[in-house]
Amino acid sequence: MYLIQKKVNMKIHINNKPVEALAGETLIEVARREGVDIPSLCYAKGAKHKSSCMVCAVRNCANGQLMPSCTTLPTEGMQIDTESADVHKARTLSLELLLSDHRADCEAPCSMVCPKGLDIELLLKYYDDERYGEAKALLASAFTQPATDCDDCKAPCEKICRRGTVDKAVSIRAIIKEVAAMASTANEAHIHSPLSTLHSQFKSKLGRFTPAEQAHLKATTTTRSRCLHCACAAQHDCRLRLYASQHGIQRSRYTASSVLPLHTIHIHSTLYFEPAKCIRCGLCVYNSDNGFTFKERGFVMQVVLPEENKDNITADLVTLCPTGAIYDHDYYKIVHDYHD
Ligand code: SF4
Ligand code: SF4
Ligand code: SF4
Ligand code: FES
Repeated sequence: MYLIQKKVNMKIHINNKPVEALAGETLIEVARREGVDIPSLCYAKGAKHKSSCMVCAVRNCANGQLMPSCTTLPTEGMQIDTESADVHKARTLSLELLLSDHRADCEAPCSMVCPKGLDIELLLKYYDDERYGEAKALLASAFTQPATDCDDCKAPCEKICRRGTVDKAVSIRAIIKEVAAMASTANEAHIHSPLSTLHSQFKSKLGRFTPAEQAHLKATTTTRSRCLHCACAAQHDCRLRLYASQHGIQRSRYTASSVLPLHTIHIHSTLYFEPAKCIRCGLCVYNSDNGFTFKERGFVMQVVLPEENKDNITADLVTLCPTGAIYDHDYYKIVHDYHD
């Protein structure tokens, strides 16, 4: 309904400011070119997409209509509002609906409860990868006395550790002492943990492991620390989380309508797909050749990757995906293959 019009430049207003829309530009492109920020999840510049998330909603005050700015072409006389409380509310509702179906954890619970703000999951990743210089540097960024700072702490990190729901919690304090006692190495560049800035951000609820997942994790977790590395691969780089935080959402308001299994699919090389973090925006479907595809329709629709299509997936989908659903193991974290 919004797409049929001639490709000509025209004058519209965005937030009461007159602007010229260039031929073929959508509203979001005009707005962003003019420095007006509009969030988007299912849209990415230059990529094929279909509007589905409605996070980019704007209102045309000339007729009161709310519309997705990522697919709407300007028409003469439009009075576009991108920033009123009304528009903000509409976007917040769209985000909340997306999050209601989102079974995943942004941050590891151990890191969330450490009173010293140590990113414990990252420390354990360095430890598991034998990157001891970085482990020591991370420790030094949060602790003043790495060898003894845990001594007077009741260790809430070990009490909340999700490995404890599988069999036995990770021995976090012992590993910290081991790292602290290691000889210094050349690659101990100072590491600033971004964790402290994240505490006011959105945290998706902790998904509980099903009995099948628990059994699988117990049988297959081979990390040296025994850590499950349950923090999201995209915790610092997720547009869904960023927009949720910007819209004041810290927890999901709605009970999950469907619970996607928490498993990871190895695509190839260092690329992985985690369906529980997919918001079904379709970017990976429209921008891979014989790659991802939709299965079913409506509320039960899922994005899937047929086994025979895995080799067609390229690394650029990692940056195209607005969440942590498609990620690069090398860049992010250790993962566990789990096929149910
Ligand atoms: S995909 Fe985003 S919102 Fe979901 S768990 Fe990961 S960081 Fe959090
Ligand atoms: S025991 Fe150490 S790592 Fe664990 S919460 Fe306390 S200070 Fe943090
Ligand atoms: S995997 Fe990522 S890009 Fe693909 S549909 Fe899901 S959220 Fe969108
Ligand atoms: S970004 Fe426009 S509908 Fe998703």
